[in-house]
Amino acid sequence: MASTVHVALGDRSYDILIADGLLGRLPELLKPLQLGSRCALLTDSNVAPLYADAARDALAAASWRVSVQMIAAGESAKSLAVAGQLYEQLAEARLDRKSFVLALGGGVVGDLAGFIAATFLRGIDFVQAPTTLLAMVDSSVGGKVAINLPQGKNLVGAFYQPRVVIADTATLRTLSEREFRAGVAEVIKYGIISDAALFAELERELPRLMARDAALLARVIARCCEIKSDVVSQDERESGLRAILNFGHTVGHAIEAVTEYGRYLHGEAVAIGMLAAARLSQKHAGLGAAEVDRIESLLRRAGFDLTPPDAPFEQLLDAMRSDKKAREGRLRFVLAKRIGEVVVSDAVNESEIQEALHVRRR
Ligand SMILES: NC(=O)c1ccc[n+]([C@@H]2O[C@H](COP(=O)([O-])OP(=O)(O)OC[C@H]3O[C@@H](n4cnc5c(N)ncnc54)[C@H](O)[C@@H]3O)[C@@H](O)[C@H]2O)c1
Ligand SMILES: [Zn+2]
Repeated sequence: MASTVHVALGDRSYDILIADGLLGRLPELLKPLQLGSRCALLTDSNVAPLYADAARDALAAASWRVSVQMIAAGESAKSLAVAGQLYEQLAEARLDRKSFVLALGGGVVGDLAGFIAATFLRGIDFVQAPTTLLAMVDSSVGGKVAINLPQGKNLVGAFYQPRVVIADTATLRTLSEREFRAGVAEVIKYGIISDAALFAELERELPRLMARDAALLARVIARCCEIKSDVVSQDERESGLRAILNFGHTVGHAIEAVTEYGRYLHGEAVAIGMLAAARLSQKHAGLGAAEVDRIESLLRRAGFDLTPPDAPFEQLLDAMRSDKKAREGRLRFVLAKRIGEVVVSDAVNESEIQEALHVRRR
């Protein structure tokens, strides 16, 4: 049995299905959606040799006409140039308005495939089959699709919901330790922003989680999807509440930017950002010292190196101010009142951030 999380968005509502082995059941899971007969299966060069053949064969056996489109693995494929090539390949494969795009891969494939689906022929059906932990708990939920520009990440995009999300947890077994851990940072984030019981479960079950125990994974991923979809259902277009998903991200994004996206995975930078946010929460939101310690200790046990990069603080500050989520240069922080409840604050000042990060000034 798969765990199912329903994302309630009126006539754009859909289900997220989570279980081991779902890719083998693609045809039966897609049938009820009455999708067209042609499909573009978009995947990347790491995922293709692992899962694309099986997915294609299963669909073909159920008489879908599948054209497999493979992009190079890595963030640089989320570009206008690659999107341009894909549009042409989809046109050549004669996809029509009833056809659909199936994203099989991590967040890069999902964001790019969703962007293509949102724009090709003014929008065709889109199905997500996320294969990284980050994609399962975060990028495949919520309907944000985007590509990057040389000037910044995710600068061109849309809100475009998939028809269904099929998260086969068996695919996580081939994910590298480092990529898996990066996804765990977002899982820990969900505990902090809205579920103290999830946080406590992570504290108890961390070794089993890191060993990728199937039943635990399915339960934890479903809970994370529930939390994100609750937030998204209330605030699809990020006018307010959706901001709470950015706990740890003000600093995390700045760390990624100053290190030019080369040194830290997103989740690794967010882990450092969450510790800083926890310390700031103690000062501004009443988070207890013991809870700050619990957050730090869970992150360390998960294997995160929580040392900020050796960059001058001014550089980090500039990056925080130019983040597209900063409001007219004002720094916004999501702070925890306690584990399981957060507030958004504009009250944090520079020297407090510096102190929270334990970094030097020039
Ligand atoms: N749309 C959103 O709301 C949202 C939210 C968060 C992140 N994102 C985006 O997601 C992207 C990051 O996603 P990601 O962390 O999944 O990165 P990714 O897609 O680059 O995947 C990470 C690496 O793992 C490989 N991989 C994927 N699945 C695998 C598997 N099952 N086995 C072995 N290797 C596998 C990939 O080829 C890649 O090398 C970023 O572009 C980010 O902007 C989007
Ligand atoms: Zn994130």
